[in-house]
Amino acid sequence: MSAEVVKLVADQDQQIKEGLKGRDFLTLADFTEEELSYLLDLAARLKAIQHSGATFQPLKGKTLGMIFEKSSTRTRVSFEVGIYQLGGQGMFLSSRDLQLGRGEPISDTAQVLSRYLDGIMIRTFSHKDVEQLAAHSSVPVINGLTDEYHPCQVMADLQTIQEQKGQLKGLKLAFVGDGNNMAHSLLLGAATFGVDIYMASPEGYQPDPKVVELAKKRAEKYGSRVVITDDPKEAAQNADVIYTDVWASMGQEDEQEERAKTFAPFQVNAELVQLAKPDYVFMHCLPAHRGEEVTADVIDGDHSVVFDQSENRLHAQKAIMASIMV
Ligand code: CP
Ligand code: NVA
Repeated sequence: MSAEVVKLVADQDQQIKEGLKGRDFLTLADFTEEELSYLLDLAARLKAIQHSGATFQPLKGKTLGMIFEKSSTRTRVSFEVGIYQLGGQGMFLSSRDLQLGRGEPISDTAQVLSRYLDGIMIRTFSHKDVEQLAAHSSVPVINGLTDEYHPCQVMADLQTIQEQKGQLKGLKLAFVGDGNNMAHSLLLGAATFGVDIYMASPEGYQPDPKVVELAKKRAEKYGSRVVITDDPKEAAQNADVIYTDVWASMGQEDEQEERAKTFAPFQVNAELVQLAKPDYVFMHCLPAHRGEEVTADVIDGDHSVVFDQSENRLHAQKAIMASIMV
């Protein structure tokens, strides 16, 4: 690269960096390809720093509040460890203990918490509640999963695919299963980075057409395909990545039995993955149910990168926090 190009790239990075300060991280749809690329690059650098034993602490003295209205292993631990590694501290806030759980308005909660905290991470049911929290908070709000989206997971997933394949553009990702929060964020993430995404779900469980439309618009702009099908084989054929998630998400426990019947033909198993490229990777956001959406031989087999995805939650979220909470 010539000195001129190096300067141009540095100037662009500086602009993106400035533009991310103070922003909320609610859905990938709010960010451009340049911004998400910047965050993925930073995540890779933060991973290298962490693995080298060095420290990087831009958030010294800052506190992240973490509101949980649903269970969590990865999100809770990776955010709490992540903010600690960046020099700050995390505070776990269960909705069972907060006045929010007894009916205090979200708008009041947002304004009060903004007086104490430097950032708020929330995992809850309704995406609208998160938007309302963000609208009334003066500090950045991060979506740690809603019924509609799981953007932090998909940042970790994109980082994992980049590591495994050395590229994103031009790959084929097959998502086989429920058109849920993961499906929605993967649609947006894949479309933004020029990854062809094939989504195979049973009739009645396909992703929200609003999100599909958004993803298709992005795919047009960034040069990839979005295909919604009810045929798992069409999705898996020649795929670089095969991704699945639970059939019944948190909050849908009552539908578990009925869903198990409907989704049975959508199981990711040895027969399905043999349609993929020989060097395909298997992905799952976890927690997984072996014998339901995926068989043990696939998730515990050589092609599985599920624990890299879990690790990358830490690095991807550190990149997000270090960019928006400064
Ligand atoms: N993948 C994920 O978000 O896991 P947790 O529910 O354990 O946070
Ligand atoms: N779709 C799953 C993802 C869990 C990380 C759920 O919402 O329960």
